[in-house]
Amino acid sequence: MNHRGRDSRPFLFTIESSSKVWVGFVKQTIVGDLNLLNSSFMEHTILVTGGAGFIGSNFILHQMECDSAAIANLDKLTYAGNLRNLEAISQERRYEFVHGDIADRGLMRSVLNRRKPRAIVHFAAESHVDRSIRGPDDFIRTNVDGTFALLEEARAYWESLNGSDRTEFRLLHVSTDEVFGSLGARDPAFSETTPYAPNSPYAATKAASDHLVRAYHHTYGLPVLTTNCSNNYGRFQFPEKLIPLMILNAHNHKPLPVYGDGQNVRDWLYVKDHCEAIAIVLARGRVGETYNIGGWNEKRNLEIVETICDLVDEIAGRRGGSRRELITFVKDRPGHDRRYAMDASKIERELGWRPRETFESGISKTVRWYLKNEDWVRDVTSGGYRQWIETHYSS
Ligand code: NAD
Ligand code: DAU
Repeated sequence: MNHRGRDSRPFLFTIESSSKVWVGFVKQTIVGDLNLLNSSFMEHTILVTGGAGFIGSNFILHQMECDSAAIANLDKLTYAGNLRNLEAISQERRYEFVHGDIADRGLMRSVLNRRKPRAIVHFAAESHVDRSIRGPDDFIRTNVDGTFALLEEARAYWESLNGSDRTEFRLLHVSTDEVFGSLGARDPAFSETTPYAPNSPYAATKAASDHLVRAYHHTYGLPVLTTNCSNNYGRFQFPEKLIPLMILNAHNHKPLPVYGDGQNVRDWLYVKDHCEAIAIVLARGRVGETYNIGGWNEKRNLEIVETICDLVDEIAGRRGGSRRELITFVKDRPGHDRRYAMDASKIERELGWRPRETFESGISKTVRWYLKNEDWVRDVTSGGYRQWIETHYSS
Protein backbone atom coordinates (compact mmCIF):
# COMPACT_ATOMS: atom_id res chain seq x y z
CA MET A 1 0.00 0.00 0.00
CA ASN A 2 1.26 3.43 -0.85
CA HIS A 3 1.20 6.00 1.93
CA ARG A 4 2.90 8.80 0.05
CA GLY A 5 1.88 12.36 0.76
CA ARG A 6 1.41 14.98 -1.92
CA ASP A 7 5.04 15.94 -1.64
CA SER A 8 8.09 14.64 0.16
CA ARG A 9 8.11 17.12 3.05
CA PRO A 10 8.19 15.46 6.46
CA PHE A 11 4.90 15.19 8.37
CA LEU A 12 4.13 14.84 12.01
CA PHE A 13 2.65 11.51 12.99
CA THR A 14 1.29 9.96 16.14
CA ILE A 15 1.54 6.34 17.12
CA GLU A 16 -0.37 5.68 20.24
CA SER A 17 -0.16 2.65 22.49
CA SER A 18 -2.09 2.06 25.70
CA SER A 19 0.37 4.06 27.78
CA LYS A 20 2.46 6.24 25.47
CA VAL A 21 2.07 8.68 22.61
CA TRP A 22 5.04 8.75 20.25
CA VAL A 23 5.42 11.80 18.12
CA GLY A 24 7.92 12.03 15.29
CA PHE A 25 8.55 13.10 11.75
CA VAL A 26 8.26 10.83 8.74
CA LYS A 27 8.12 11.37 5.01
CA GLN A 28 4.61 9.95 4.94
CA THR A 29 1.06 11.06 5.29
CA ILE A 30 0.36 9.85 8.78
CA VAL A 31 -0.63 13.27 9.73
CA GLY A 32 -1.32 15.80 12.31
CA ASP A 33 -0.19 19.08 13.65
CA LEU A 34 1.14 19.78 17.09
CA ASN A 35 -1.86 21.97 17.85
CA LEU A 36 -4.18 19.06 17.23
CA LEU A 37 -2.56 17.03 19.96
CA ASN A 38 -4.27 19.31 22.44
CA SER A 39 -8.04 19.25 22.09
CA SER A 40 -8.51 22.66 23.69
CA PHE A 41 -7.35 24.22 20.42
CA MET A 42 -10.45 22.95 18.71
CA GLU A 43 -14.10 23.68 18.81
CA HIS A 44 -15.26 20.12 18.17
CA THR A 45 -13.73 16.81 17.25
CA ILE A 46 -15.40 13.86 15.61
CA LEU A 47 -13.64 10.53 16.15
CA VAL A 48 -14.12 8.37 13.07
CA THR A 49 -13.26 4.67 13.23
CA GLY A 50 -12.40 2.90 9.98
CA GLY A 51 -11.99 6.22 8.16
CA ALA A 52 -9.41 4.87 5.70
CA GLY A 53 -11.97 2.48 4.20
CA PHE A 54 -14.43 3.07 1.39
CA ILE A 55 -17.33 4.82 3.15
CA GLY A 56 -15.27 6.23 6.03
CA SER A 57 -12.87 8.08 3.73
CA ASN A 58 -15.75 9.48 1.68
CA PHE A 59 -17.39 10.58 4.93
CA ILE A 60 -14.25 12.32 6.23
CA LEU A 61 -13.80 14.22 2.96
CA HIS A 62 -17.47 15.20 3.05
CA GLN A 63 -17.25 16.41 6.65
CA MET A 64 -14.05 18.35 6.11
CA GLU A 65 -15.78 20.18 3.27
CA CYS A 66 -19.14 20.83 4.95
CA ASP A 67 -18.39 21.17 8.66
CA SER A 68 -15.89 22.99 10.87
CA ALA A 69 -15.24 20.08 13.24
CA ALA A 70 -11.80 18.49 13.47
CA ILE A 71 -11.55 14.81 12.55
CA ALA A 72 -9.50 12.12 14.28
CA ASN A 73 -9.43 9.02 12.11
CA LEU A 74 -8.57 5.78 13.92
CA ASP A 75 -7.94 2.90 11.55
CA LYS A 76 -6.10 -0.40 11.73
CA LEU A 77 -5.23 -0.24 8.01
CA THR A 78 -6.28 -3.73 7.09
CA TYR A 79 -6.19 -4.69 3.41
CA ALA A 80 -9.29 -2.45 3.01
CA GLY A 81 -7.79 0.68 4.57
CA ASN A 82 -6.11 3.05 2.14
CA LEU A 83 -4.69 6.37 3.31
CA ARG A 84 -4.37 7.46 -0.29
CA ASN A 85 -8.11 8.12 -0.25
CA LEU A 86 -7.40 10.95 2.20
CA GLU A 87 -4.38 12.53 0.51
CA ALA A 88 -6.32 15.69 -0.28
CA ILE A 89 -6.73 16.55 3.42
CA SER A 90 -3.74 14.78 4.91
CA GLN A 91 -1.91 18.04 5.65
CA GLU A 92 -4.85 19.92 7.12
CA ARG A 93 -4.57 21.06 10.71
CA ARG A 94 -8.08 19.82 11.47
CA TYR A 95 -7.24 16.23 10.52
CA GLU A 96 -5.30 13.58 12.42
CA PHE A 97 -4.69 9.94 11.59
CA VAL A 98 -4.20 7.44 14.42
CA HIS A 99 -3.06 3.97 13.43
CA GLY A 100 -4.71 1.43 15.73
CA ASP A 101 -7.28 -1.22 16.48
CA ILE A 102 -10.70 -0.46 17.98
CA ALA A 103 -10.32 -3.63 20.04
CA ASP A 104 -7.30 -2.09 21.85
CA ARG A 105 -9.07 -0.62 24.88
CA GLY A 106 -6.02 1.20 26.20
CA LEU A 107 -5.58 2.93 22.87
CA MET A 108 -9.27 3.83 22.63
CA ARG A 109 -9.19 5.26 26.16
CA SER A 110 -6.14 7.36 25.48
CA VAL A 111 -7.50 8.72 22.17
CA LEU A 112 -10.85 9.59 23.73
CA ASN A 113 -9.26 11.35 26.70
CA ARG A 114 -6.79 13.23 24.54
CA ARG A 115 -9.12 14.32 21.74
CA LYS A 116 -12.35 14.68 23.78
CA PRO A 117 -14.64 14.12 20.80
CA ARG A 118 -18.16 15.48 20.61
CA ALA A 119 -19.11 12.41 18.56
CA ILE A 120 -17.87 9.02 17.42
CA VAL A 121 -18.85 7.73 14.00
CA HIS A 122 -18.13 4.01 13.93
CA PHE A 123 -17.40 2.55 10.48
CA ALA A 124 -14.55 0.16 11.38
CA ALA A 125 -15.50 -3.37 10.42
CA GLU A 126 -14.62 -6.35 8.33
CA SER A 127 -17.13 -5.77 5.55
CA HIS A 128 -16.89 -8.39 2.80
CA VAL A 129 -19.42 -11.24 2.89
CA ASP A 130 -17.29 -13.67 0.84
CA ARG A 131 -14.32 -13.21 3.19
CA SER A 132 -16.60 -13.87 6.18
CA ILE A 133 -17.63 -17.18 4.61
CA ARG A 134 -14.02 -18.25 4.12
CA GLY A 135 -12.76 -17.02 7.50
CA PRO A 136 -15.15 -15.53 10.07
CA ASP A 137 -12.55 -15.06 12.86
CA ASP A 138 -11.55 -11.49 11.97
CA PHE A 139 -15.24 -10.58 11.68
CA ILE A 140 -15.92 -11.72 15.26
CA ARG A 141 -12.78 -9.97 16.48
CA THR A 142 -13.44 -6.58 14.91
CA ASN A 143 -17.20 -6.38 14.43
CA VAL A 144 -18.20 -7.93 17.76
CA ASP A 145 -15.23 -7.72 20.16
CA GLY A 146 -14.04 -4.44 18.63
CA THR A 147 -17.45 -2.80 18.86
CA PHE A 148 -17.77 -4.04 22.44
CA ALA A 149 -14.38 -2.50 23.34
CA LEU A 150 -15.38 0.77 21.67
CA LEU A 151 -18.70 0.84 23.55
CA GLU A 152 -17.06 0.20 26.91
CA GLU A 153 -14.52 2.98 26.41
CA ALA A 154 -17.11 5.36 24.94
CA ARG A 155 -19.34 4.75 27.95
CA ALA A 156 -16.55 5.48 30.44
CA TYR A 157 -15.60 8.61 28.48
CA TRP A 158 -19.21 9.83 28.22
CA GLU A 159 -19.81 9.23 31.94
CA SER A 160 -16.81 11.44 32.70
CA LEU A 161 -18.32 14.40 30.80
CA ASN A 162 -20.40 17.18 32.32
CA GLY A 163 -22.98 19.69 31.18
CA SER A 164 -23.47 20.24 27.45
CA ASP A 165 -20.44 18.06 26.60
CA ARG A 166 -22.38 15.16 28.09
CA THR A 167 -25.82 15.99 26.67
CA GLU A 168 -24.49 16.68 23.16
CA PHE A 169 -22.24 13.61 22.87
CA ARG A 170 -23.32 11.01 20.24
CA LEU A 171 -22.07 7.62 19.11
CA LEU A 172 -23.28 6.80 15.60
CA HIS A 173 -22.97 3.14 14.63
CA VAL A 174 -22.94 2.39 10.90
CA SER A 175 -24.69 -0.89 10.10
CA THR A 176 -26.23 -2.71 7.18
CA ASP A 177 -29.50 -3.92 5.67
CA GLU A 178 -28.02 -7.46 5.68
CA VAL A 179 -28.99 -7.87 9.34
CA PHE A 180 -32.63 -8.21 8.21
CA GLY A 181 -31.98 -11.34 6.13
CA SER A 182 -33.41 -12.07 2.69
CA LEU A 183 -36.70 -10.99 1.06
CA GLY A 184 -38.98 -12.82 -1.37
CA ALA A 185 -39.82 -11.12 -4.67
CA ARG A 186 -43.09 -9.66 -3.38
CA ASP A 187 -42.18 -8.98 0.27
CA PRO A 188 -42.33 -5.40 1.50
CA ALA A 189 -38.97 -3.64 1.87
CA PHE A 190 -37.06 -3.75 5.19
CA SER A 191 -38.21 -1.13 7.68
CA GLU A 192 -36.67 -0.18 11.03
CA THR A 193 -39.01 -2.65 12.74
CA THR A 194 -38.25 -5.68 10.53
CA PRO A 195 -37.01 -8.51 12.79
CA TYR A 196 -33.32 -9.39 12.52
CA ALA A 197 -32.48 -12.58 10.57
CA PRO A 198 -28.80 -12.42 9.56
CA ASN A 199 -27.67 -15.17 7.17
CA SER A 200 -23.90 -14.77 6.63
CA PRO A 201 -21.19 -14.68 9.29
CA TYR A 202 -20.65 -11.03 8.30
CA ALA A 203 -24.32 -10.18 8.79
CA ALA A 204 -24.42 -12.07 12.09
CA THR A 205 -21.48 -10.06 13.45
CA LYS A 206 -23.07 -6.79 12.34
CA ALA A 207 -26.35 -7.85 13.97
CA ALA A 208 -24.46 -8.65 17.19
CA SER A 209 -22.84 -5.22 17.13
CA ASP A 210 -26.21 -3.53 16.54
CA HIS A 211 -27.66 -5.35 19.56
CA LEU A 212 -24.74 -4.30 21.75
CA VAL A 213 -25.15 -0.68 20.67
CA ARG A 214 -28.87 -0.84 21.43
CA ALA A 215 -28.21 -2.43 24.85
CA TYR A 216 -25.70 0.28 25.81
CA HIS A 217 -28.40 2.87 25.22
CA HIS A 218 -31.14 1.01 27.08
CA THR A 219 -28.98 -0.09 29.99
CA TYR A 220 -26.51 2.76 30.46
CA GLY A 221 -28.19 5.62 28.61
CA LEU A 222 -25.27 6.00 26.15
CA PRO A 223 -26.58 8.43 23.48
CA VAL A 224 -26.37 6.23 20.39
CA LEU A 225 -27.77 6.35 16.86
CA THR A 226 -27.73 3.41 14.46
CA THR A 227 -27.99 3.61 10.68
CA ASN A 228 -28.68 0.56 8.50
CA CYS A 229 -27.84 1.19 4.88
CA SER A 230 -28.00 -0.70 1.61
CA ASN A 231 -25.19 -1.48 -0.88
CA ASN A 232 -22.98 1.56 -1.38
CA TYR A 233 -21.09 2.32 -4.58
CA GLY A 234 -18.80 5.13 -5.72
CA ARG A 235 -15.13 6.16 -5.59
CA PHE A 236 -12.57 4.41 -3.31
CA GLN A 237 -14.39 1.05 -3.00
CA PHE A 238 -12.01 -1.90 -2.74
CA PRO A 239 -12.36 -3.94 -5.94
CA GLU A 240 -13.49 -7.15 -4.27
CA LYS A 241 -17.06 -5.80 -4.23
CA LEU A 242 -19.37 -6.22 -7.21
CA ILE A 243 -19.31 -2.79 -8.86
CA PRO A 244 -15.59 -1.88 -8.82
CA LEU A 245 -14.63 -5.50 -9.60
CA MET A 246 -16.85 -5.53 -12.68
CA ILE A 247 -15.68 -2.10 -13.86
CA LEU A 248 -12.00 -3.05 -13.65
CA ASN A 249 -12.45 -6.53 -15.13
CA ALA A 250 -14.58 -5.17 -17.96
CA HIS A 251 -12.01 -2.47 -18.67
CA ASN A 252 -9.25 -5.10 -18.80
CA HIS A 253 -11.29 -7.55 -20.89
CA LYS A 254 -11.30 -10.13 -18.07
CA PRO A 255 -14.19 -12.51 -17.24
CA LEU A 256 -17.05 -10.99 -15.22
CA PRO A 257 -17.95 -13.61 -12.55
CA VAL A 258 -21.69 -13.43 -11.82
CA TYR A 259 -22.78 -15.65 -8.91
CA GLY A 260 -25.63 -18.15 -9.51
CA ASP A 261 -28.27 -16.95 -11.97
CA GLY A 262 -27.47 -13.24 -11.49
CA GLN A 263 -31.05 -12.54 -10.41
CA ASN A 264 -30.24 -11.54 -6.81
CA VAL A 265 -31.49 -8.06 -6.02
CA ARG A 266 -29.72 -5.32 -4.05
CA ASP A 267 -30.66 -1.71 -3.34
CA TRP A 268 -27.87 0.63 -4.48
CA LEU A 269 -26.92 3.82 -2.65
CA TYR A 270 -24.41 6.33 -4.01
CA VAL A 271 -21.75 6.76 -1.32
CA LYS A 272 -21.93 10.58 -1.28
CA ASP A 273 -25.67 10.37 -0.57
CA HIS A 274 -24.91 7.98 2.26
CA CYS A 275 -22.33 10.35 3.77
CA GLU A 276 -24.81 13.20 3.67
CA ALA A 277 -27.43 11.02 5.39
CA ILE A 278 -24.99 10.05 8.16
CA ALA A 279 -24.14 13.72 8.77
CA ILE A 280 -27.85 14.54 9.04
CA VAL A 281 -28.59 11.67 11.43
CA LEU A 282 -25.59 12.71 13.54
CA ALA A 283 -26.80 16.30 13.72
CA ARG A 284 -30.54 15.77 14.12
CA GLY A 285 -31.34 12.08 14.68
CA ARG A 286 -33.31 11.10 17.77
CA VAL A 287 -31.10 9.41 20.36
CA GLY A 288 -31.66 5.66 20.62
CA GLU A 289 -33.35 5.48 17.20
CA THR A 290 -32.35 3.48 14.15
CA TYR A 291 -32.62 4.89 10.61
CA ASN A 292 -32.70 2.94 7.35
CA ILE A 293 -30.74 4.60 4.55
CA GLY A 294 -31.40 3.38 1.01
CA GLY A 295 -31.15 4.55 -2.56
CA TRP A 296 -34.64 3.54 -3.75
CA ASN A 297 -32.74 1.64 -6.47
CA GLU A 298 -33.52 -2.07 -6.52
CA LYS A 299 -31.55 -3.79 -9.27
CA ARG A 300 -30.71 -7.36 -10.25
CA ASN A 301 -26.98 -8.16 -10.31
CA LEU A 302 -27.05 -9.11 -13.99
CA GLU A 303 -28.62 -5.76 -14.87
CA ILE A 304 -25.86 -3.97 -12.94
CA VAL A 305 -23.13 -5.89 -14.75
CA GLU A 306 -24.71 -5.29 -18.17
CA THR A 307 -25.02 -1.57 -17.45
CA ILE A 308 -21.33 -1.45 -16.48
CA CYS A 309 -20.34 -3.31 -19.67
CA ASP A 310 -22.24 -0.80 -21.81
CA LEU A 311 -20.74 2.20 -19.99
CA VAL A 312 -17.18 0.87 -20.25
CA ASP A 313 -17.76 0.16 -23.97
CA GLU A 314 -19.01 3.71 -24.41
CA ILE A 315 -16.25 5.45 -22.42
CA ALA A 316 -13.19 3.29 -23.19
CA GLY A 317 -14.26 2.18 -26.64
CA ARG A 318 -14.75 -1.36 -27.92
CA ARG A 319 -12.08 -3.78 -29.04
CA GLY A 320 -14.17 -6.22 -31.05
CA GLY A 321 -17.46 -7.28 -29.46
CA SER A 322 -19.48 -5.96 -26.54
CA ARG A 323 -18.05 -6.43 -23.06
CA ARG A 324 -21.29 -8.23 -22.18
CA GLU A 325 -19.64 -11.25 -23.81
CA LEU A 326 -17.27 -11.38 -20.80
CA ILE A 327 -20.12 -12.24 -18.41
CA THR A 328 -19.46 -15.67 -16.87
CA PHE A 329 -21.91 -17.40 -14.54
CA VAL A 330 -19.98 -18.98 -11.64
CA LYS A 331 -20.85 -21.09 -8.59
CA ASP A 332 -23.23 -19.30 -6.25
CA ARG A 333 -22.20 -17.76 -2.92
CA PRO A 334 -23.19 -20.18 -0.10
CA GLY A 335 -26.37 -18.94 1.63
CA HIS A 336 -26.64 -16.11 -0.93
CA ASP A 337 -29.43 -13.72 0.14
CA ARG A 338 -31.91 -13.35 -2.72
CA ARG A 339 -33.21 -9.84 -2.29
CA TYR A 340 -32.59 -6.73 -0.16
CA ALA A 341 -34.86 -3.69 -0.37
CA MET A 342 -34.92 -0.66 1.89
CA ASP A 343 -37.85 1.42 3.02
CA ALA A 344 -36.04 4.68 3.75
CA SER A 345 -39.17 6.71 4.44
CA LYS A 346 -38.48 7.28 8.17
CA ILE A 347 -35.31 9.31 7.55
CA GLU A 348 -37.14 11.30 4.87
CA ARG A 349 -40.16 11.95 7.10
CA GLU A 350 -38.21 12.82 10.26
CA LEU A 351 -35.01 14.37 8.95
CA GLY A 352 -35.86 15.41 5.39
CA TRP A 353 -33.15 13.28 3.73
CA ARG A 354 -33.58 11.65 0.31
CA PRO A 355 -30.83 10.49 -2.03
CA ARG A 356 -29.89 13.04 -4.72
CA GLU A 357 -28.38 10.58 -7.19
CA THR A 358 -30.33 8.27 -9.50
CA PHE A 359 -28.69 4.93 -10.27
CA GLU A 360 -28.08 6.04 -13.86
CA SER A 361 -26.24 9.24 -12.84
CA GLY A 362 -24.36 7.57 -9.96
CA ILE A 363 -23.12 4.58 -11.94
CA SER A 364 -21.99 6.76 -14.82
CA LYS A 365 -19.92 8.94 -12.44
CA THR A 366 -18.55 5.83 -10.75
CA VAL A 367 -17.42 4.08 -13.94
CA ARG A 368 -15.75 7.30 -15.12
CA TRP A 369 -13.95 7.68 -11.75
CA TYR A 370 -12.41 4.18 -11.86
CA LEU A 371 -11.33 4.55 -15.46
CA LYS A 372 -9.78 7.95 -14.79
CA ASN A 373 -7.94 7.18 -11.53
CA GLU A 374 -5.41 4.71 -12.84
CA ASP A 375 -2.85 5.34 -10.06
CA TRP A 376 -5.36 4.57 -7.33
CA VAL A 377 -6.43 1.42 -9.14
CA ARG A 378 -2.84 0.29 -9.68
CA ASP A 379 -2.13 0.71 -5.97
CA VAL A 380 -5.05 -1.31 -4.68
CA THR A 381 -4.87 -4.02 -7.28
CA SER A 382 -1.30 -4.95 -6.40
CA GLY A 383 -0.08 -7.28 -3.65
CA GLY A 384 -2.58 -8.49 -1.09
CA TYR A 385 -5.57 -7.88 -3.29
CA ARG A 386 -4.21 -10.09 -6.08
CA GLN A 387 -3.55 -12.88 -3.63
CA TRP A 388 -7.14 -12.72 -2.37
CA ILE A 389 -8.58 -12.81 -5.87
CA GLU A 390 -6.46 -15.85 -6.70
CA THR A 391 -7.55 -17.79 -3.58
CA HIS A 392 -11.18 -16.83 -3.96
CA TYR A 393 -11.78 -17.42 -7.64
CA SER A 394 -9.47 -20.41 -8.17
CA SER A 395 -11.88 -22.83 -6.44
P1 NAD B 1 -14.25 -1.17 4.22
O1 NAD B 1 -14.00 -2.63 4.35
O2 NAD B 1 -13.98 -0.48 2.93
O3 NAD B 1 -13.41 -0.37 5.33
C1 NAD B 1 -13.31 -0.80 6.66
C2 NAD B 1 -12.23 0.05 7.34
O4 NAD B 1 -12.17 -0.36 8.71
C3 NAD B 1 -10.83 -0.14 6.74
O5 NAD B 1 -10.20 1.11 6.61
C4 NAD B 1 -10.12 -0.99 7.78
O6 NAD B 1 -8.73 -0.79 7.82
C5 NAD B 1 -10.80 -0.54 9.06
N1 NAD B 1 -10.73 -1.55 10.14
C6 NAD B 1 -11.02 -2.88 10.03
N2 NAD B 1 -10.84 -3.48 11.23
C7 NAD B 1 -10.46 -2.51 12.10
C8 NAD B 1 -10.15 -2.50 13.49
N3 NAD B 1 -10.18 -3.62 14.21
N4 NAD B 1 -9.83 -1.32 14.07
C9 NAD B 1 -9.77 -0.18 13.33
N5 NAD B 1 -10.04 -0.14 12.02
C10 NAD B 1 -10.39 -1.28 11.41
O7 NAD B 1 -15.74 -0.98 4.67
P2 NAD B 1 -16.85 0.01 4.10
O8 NAD B 1 -17.47 -0.59 2.89
O9 NAD B 1 -16.30 1.37 4.06
O10 NAD B 1 -17.94 -0.11 5.27
C11 NAD B 1 -17.89 0.76 6.39
C12 NAD B 1 -18.99 0.36 7.36
O11 NAD B 1 -20.26 0.43 6.70
C13 NAD B 1 -18.88 -1.07 7.88
O12 NAD B 1 -19.26 -1.07 9.23
C14 NAD B 1 -19.87 -1.86 7.04
O13 NAD B 1 -20.38 -2.96 7.76
C15 NAD B 1 -20.94 -0.81 6.80
N6 NAD B 1 -21.71 -0.99 5.56
C16 NAD B 1 -21.07 -1.02 4.34
C17 NAD B 1 -21.84 -1.12 3.17
C18 NAD B 1 -21.20 -1.14 1.80
O14 NAD B 1 -21.94 -1.29 0.82
N7 NAD B 1 -19.92 -0.98 1.67
C19 NAD B 1 -23.23 -1.21 3.26
C20 NAD B 1 -23.82 -1.23 4.51
C21 NAD B 1 -23.06 -1.08 5.67
O1 DAU C 1 -26.24 -4.70 1.69
C1 DAU C 1 -25.20 -4.03 2.33
C2 DAU C 1 -23.93 -4.82 2.19
O2 DAU C 1 -23.50 -4.66 0.85
C3 DAU C 1 -22.81 -4.37 3.15
O3 DAU C 1 -23.23 -4.59 4.46
C4 DAU C 1 -21.51 -5.12 2.87
O4 DAU C 1 -20.48 -4.61 3.67
C5 DAU C 1 -21.17 -4.94 1.40
O5 DAU C 1 -20.01 -5.70 1.10
C6 DAU C 1 -22.33 -5.36 0.50
O6 DAU C 1 -22.54 -6.78 0.60
P1 DAU C 1 -22.95 -7.64 -0.70
O7 DAU C 1 -22.63 -9.05 -0.44
O8 DAU C 1 -24.33 -7.33 -1.14
O9 DAU C 1 -21.94 -6.96 -1.76
P2 DAU C 1 -21.01 -7.58 -2.90
O10 DAU C 1 -20.50 -6.44 -3.70
O11 DAU C 1 -20.04 -8.56 -2.35
O12 DAU C 1 -22.06 -8.39 -3.80
C7 DAU C 1 -23.17 -7.74 -4.38
C8 DAU C 1 -23.97 -8.78 -5.11
O13 DAU C 1 -23.20 -9.22 -6.24
C9 DAU C 1 -24.26 -10.02 -4.30
O14 DAU C 1 -25.53 -10.52 -4.65
C10 DAU C 1 -23.18 -11.01 -4.73
C11 DAU C 1 -22.93 -10.62 -6.18
N1 DAU C 1 -21.56 -10.84 -6.70
C12 DAU C 1 -20.52 -10.30 -5.98
C13 DAU C 1 -19.22 -10.48 -6.41
C14 DAU C 1 -18.07 -9.92 -5.62
C15 DAU C 1 -21.34 -11.50 -7.89
O15 DAU C 1 -22.29 -11.96 -8.54
N2 DAU C 1 -20.06 -11.67 -8.31
C16 DAU C 1 -18.96 -11.20 -7.63
O16 DAU C 1 -17.80 -11.40 -8.06
